[in-house]
This record gives sequence, C-alpha cells and structure tokens, in this order.
Amino acid sequence: MFERVFVLTGAGVSAESGLATFRGEGGVWKQYRAEEVAHINAWRRDPKLVWEFYSFRRRKHHEVKPNPAHVALAELERRIGDGFFLCTQNVDRLHEMAGSERVAHIHGKIFESKCDTCRRPPFYDESTHDDGAPLPRCECGTGTIRPNVIWFGESLPESELARTFEELDRCDCFVAVGTSGVVEPVASFVRHLKLRRQNDEGRTIPTIYVGPERPANAEYFDDFYLGTASEMVPRLIAERFPS
Ligand code: OAD
Repeated sequence: MFERVFVLTGAGVSAESGLATFRGEGGVWKQYRAEEVAHINAWRRDPKLVWEFYSFRRRKHHEVKPNPAHVALAELERRIGDGFFLCTQNVDRLHEMAGSERVAHIHGKIFESKCDTCRRPPFYDESTHDDGAPLPRCECGTGTIRPNVIWFGESLPESELARTFEELDRCDCFVAVGTSGVVEPVASFVRHLKLRRQNDEGRTIPTIYVGPERPANAEYFDDFYLGTASEMVPRLIAERFPS
C-alpha cells in the first residue's frame, strides 16, 4: 500500500459536473481568448471584461455539484489521512464540496477576491460585477478588487508552490486526472518526479494518468486509465488502493 499519494487534477475532473474544460471541443478557450480575460495585461487593459468572464464563472458554479471522481478522491483522502495531497489547477470548489480537505489550489480560487494593489489577504467573495456598475474599490484607497485567480503572465503563489514541491518530493505514487499537460509549471511535475525515480526506500514511484486521451506529457506516465474521470477514478482507486 502507498503511504504518500500525490493527486494532480485539472479541468477534466470537473467536466462531468458541467464545468467546461479549457482546450478541445467546447472548451472555454474556444469561446473566449485567454489573452483577453485571463492574462494580467487583460486586467490592466479592460478589467470590466475580465470581471464579466469571472462573474459568469461564479454564477455557473452555483449550478454544479461534485461527480463520482471528486467523491472517490475525498474517500481515499479520508482513508489515507495526512499521506494524501491534492494539488488542483481548478479554481472551482468541487473537491471541497465532496469533502476533500488537503487541497492546494495552485491557480487560485473562484470564490476569492483580493486587491490588485495592496497586500490585503484574499477573502471569500461570491459577488459578481457585470452589471455596468463601477468595479469595487479596495479600502486601501488605491486598488481595485479582482478575482484571486492566477492569470497568464503571473507567478504562482510561492508558498503553495513550495508546499507542492515538498509533497512531490516525498510522495510514493503520483496520479494525474483530466489535465492536458501543456500549462507550466504544473505540466512538469510528473517529469520532475520521474527524474527522482525512486522513493526513500528505493522503490520506483508509479505515475498514473486518468482521462479520455493521453496528455501532451504522456511520455512520463507509466500507466493510463483511459476514460472519463467519473468512471476511471473509482476504478483506479479500487484497483490500486484497495481498502
Ligand atoms: P485543459 O482544458 O487543458 O485539459 C483538460 C483535460 O481534461 C484534457 O486532457 C481532456 O482530455 C481531459 N478531459 C476531458 N473530459 C474529461 C473527463 N470527463 N474526465 C477526465 N478528463 C477529461 O485543462 P487543464 O489541463 O486543467 O489556467 O488546464 C490547465 C490550465 O490551463 C488551467 O488551469 C487554466 C488553463 O488555461 C489558467 O486559466 C491560468
């Protein structure tokens, strides 16, 4: 049995809950241009358009619930406890809604906002700003309130990244679910792990991918469960992590 399991999730784990993935048929980036709504320069150029996009996503989130993949991962965490670590690129709350507790949101959280200028900590926020009213200002007097998500052109939060690499360095099994393997630095996690090759006891660390198609970084995975997350995650857990 594995003692330290690192799970990485991407948009595909939430697809069957009704949240579109970014790439591929019906993907978010087919409808919107990432440079116009999810880039730091987009915020500087047209913050109202950026808020329109995230207001839509906040509203959409009220309609969705976790699917069997989120639930199975939360159950696995309950069994393994502190040996379990979930790093998600998703800004949605579906892992938490399913009961997951050890979750690092490396790309931020849809229901959090922060000031674009001062160092006020991010705060929980469900508000939407697409009605033409002026955008909310921070109490610091200079900044505008923005979603607490990581955009292209921004660095990932250092503390989350450090914690994530610490977990990567000590895991003895790596599972990725529903991520195309093209966005850095997350796409390189599995390569980083493969360069390490063995855990402290000298055992090889298996790397497993779950999703309907092979990701761009497929060469670093040992095993594939090709299919949808809601079908394959429970199957993988039953086979690889029997209770
Ligand atoms: P992508 O949209 O790039 O990839 C989604 C992956 O999910 C694809 O590999 C699909 O094959 C897979 N998939 C689709 N349906 C699935 C299902 N039912 N079950 C399992 N897998 C399924 O999403 P990410 O890799 O998460 O960043 O994207 C990474 C980042 O790029 C996002 O966090 C976002 C985006 O631009 C920012 O916005 C900064």
